[in-house]
Amino acid sequence: EAYKSEIASATAPDEKQLEEFRIKYLGTKGLVKSVMGEMKNVPADKKKEFGQILNEFKLFTEQRYEDLKLAADSGPASVGTSIDLSLPGDPIPIGSRHPITMMKNRIVSIFQRLGFAEAEGPEIEDDWHNFGALNLPPHHPARDMQDTFYIQQNPDWVLRTHTSNTQIREMEKGKLPIRVICPGRVYRNETVSARSHCFFHQVEGLYIDENVSFADLKQTLYFFVKEMYGKDVKVRFRPSYFPFTEPSAEMDVSCFICGGKGCNICKKTGWVEILGCGMVHPNVLQNCNIDPNKYTGFAFGMGIERPALLKYDINDIRLFSENDIRFLRQFTPAI
Ligand code: PHE
Repeated sequence: EAYKSEIASATAPDEKQLEEFRIKYLGTKGLVKSVMGEMKNVPADKKKEFGQILNEFKLFTEQRYEDLKLAADSGPASVGTSIDLSLPGDPIPIGSRHPITMMKNRIVSIFQRLGFAEAEGPEIEDDWHNFGALNLPPHHPARDMQDTFYIQQNPDWVLRTHTSNTQIREMEKGKLPIRVICPGRVYRNETVSARSHCFFHQVEGLYIDENVSFADLKQTLYFFVKEMYGKDVKVRFRPSYFPFTEPSAEMDVSCFICGGKGCNICKKTGWVEILGCGMVHPNVLQNCNIDPNKYTGFAFGMGIERPALLKYDINDIRLFSENDIRFLRQFTPAI
């Protein structure tokens, strides 16, 4: 019993003392072994009783050793206590969304509310889906509008110059009506500067059904602009040219930076160009086996970089793709 209380009050706040405890009580020449050795001197009729006491003593000592070991493991400050559950947890860093992604999501979600489904297509594309089917036959001068990166020539493989390839692929599926919104990265062989890059992002839309008219196009884009830039924003359409739409237009919104009064962004005109659009050219429908006498449709396309630059007040387009963590961290956490 005296040993027991000595053992019970023994402390071992560090590894050295813990080892000393083990040698003193549990080692080959330790106390427990030597009391066990006394068994041979115990008269036979007392052996059972004595054995029980010794066994209990051995277990007690071993248990005490385990307890001290646990306490020593969790550090000197917490000897005799368990883990402190009141300590605050380690913070888990949460990534942020890329400004291009946020802008893309915003644009896409407005059209989704109108019933447009998101569609994706390949960034490496054959000549037919990027140009031919879109009414740009070989040697068509309008191919120069989009400086193309060729991966291979004859047959031609390109880095897509617009996401219109996705619209062709949707039309080829042969299921009508079609209402898709196609975001994605596109490539053009342009000199990289603060204002333009050799790759950027677009969102294009396509709606094909019976009796789709230019009025539908205007109303859809009008709705988009109100959701995107506020209900007081005005729009205007200017006639334009795209090989895959006829008639074609470009749409401007009254400058949302200066409210139309004239600033650097709108070059004092009061208007900012935001997208190209038009009624899908009958040749394009035919190329995708859609009967142009039965179906009509409209299409539109816009860049994502420019609205993102304006919204987040960023002055260099290259920042979007440099992966500078100091830049990226400034945006909303991705939760
Ligand atoms: N594909 C055109 C571009 O990349 C945009 C566009 C799409 C214009 C659909 C009209 C209709 O510039």
